[in-house]
Amino acid sequence: MTIIYITVIKDGCWRIRMSEEFQDRAKQYREMGKTAFIIGYTGECGKELVKALSKNRIFNKVVLIGRRNVDLTPDPGPEFEQKVIDYDKLEEYTEAFQGAQVGYCCLGTTRGKAGKEGFIKVDRDYVLKSAEIAKSTGCQHFSVVTASSANKDSMFLYVKTKGEVEHSLKQMAFDKLSIFKPAMLLCERSERRIMEKVALTLMKPWICMFPTAGSVPTSYVGTAMVVDTVTPSEGNLRIYNNEQIHSVFKQNEQKK
Ligand SMILES: NC(=O)c1ccc[n+]([C@@H]2O[C@H](COP(=O)([O-])OP(=O)(O)OC[C@H]3O[C@@H](n4cnc5c(N)ncnc54)[C@H](OP(=O)(O)O)[C@@H]3O)[C@@H](O)[C@H]2O)c1
Repeated sequence: MTIIYITVIKDGCWRIRMSEEFQDRAKQYREMGKTAFIIGYTGECGKELVKALSKNRIFNKVVLIGRRNVDLTPDPGPEFEQKVIDYDKLEEYTEAFQGAQVGYCCLGTTRGKAGKEGFIKVDRDYVLKSAEIAKSTGCQHFSVVTASSANKDSMFLYVKTKGEVEHSLKQMAFDKLSIFKPAMLLCERSERRIMEKVALTLMKPWICMFPTAGSVPTSYVGTAMVVDTVTPSEGNLRIYNNEQIHSVFKQNEQKK
C-alpha cells in the first residue's frame, strides 16, 4: 500500500510528501465533514499530530483539549480550537468531547515527574475516563499512543499501566480502535528528561544499526495516526508496533 513518499534533505530532517493514494483518501475523508479531538496535543507526539492534521486538513473541526492554552505557532488553521479542562473533573467537561467522531490520545507523564500515583492517574485514569466520555458522546474511532512494551500482567509499573490501558480500551467497543506502540521516541524534547537522554545516548549505536527496532521519531507517530485515520479498516482494531509505524515510510521508499 503506497501512502507516503519521503525524501531526506541535507540538514538531516525528513521531508514528508503524501502519496496520491493518501491524497485521494484524505479528500474523501474530508468530504465527510468530521470533527476530532486531541488530548495530549501539547506533548511531543501530540504536536506532530497537530502538524500532520494541519497539513492534511481531513477534519472540519479539531478540538485541542488540554489543561492550559498554548501558543500555537505556526497557526495550524481555523478548524483548530483549544479548550481548557480540569482532568480531575473530566465528567464536568463532556461538552469538550461532544460532536467528535474521532478522538486522539497522546497523553502521558513520567513516574519521575508525577510520582507513582500521578503517573497512573494521567497515563491510565485520564486516558480511560476521556475515552469513556468520548464513547458516550459519539466518538466512533479512538486512536491512542501507548508503548511497545505494554503488558497488563507485567510487574513493572510503566509496562503494566500501558497494558491495562490497551486492555480496557479494547473492552469499550469503539467502531475503530487504533493503538500505536512506539519504542523510544526520538524528538527534540522541550522538557528536560535526564534518564531519557542517558538512555538515548547509550542506545545511539544500536539505533544507527537497527533504526526501526528500538526507536521512532515522533513525527512518524503523528503522521501514522493521520494515515491510519483515512485508511479503511477491515476489523475494528488496528495495532501498530514500532516497526509498523516505520513501515509506512519504508514501503514507500522502496516504491520511489
Ligand atoms: N518517551 C518515550 O520514549 C515513549 C516511548 C513510548 C511511548 N511513550 C508514550 O507515548 C505517549 C506520548 O508521549 P510524548 O513523549 O509525546 O508525551 P509528552 O511529550 O510527555 O506529552 C504528554 C502530554 O500529556 C499531557 N499531560 C501530562 N501530564 C498531565 C496532567 N497531569 N494533566 C493533564 N495533561 C497532562 C501534557 O500536557 P502539558 O503540556 O500541559 O504538560 C502533554 O500534552 C505517552 O503516553 C508516553 O508514555 C513514550
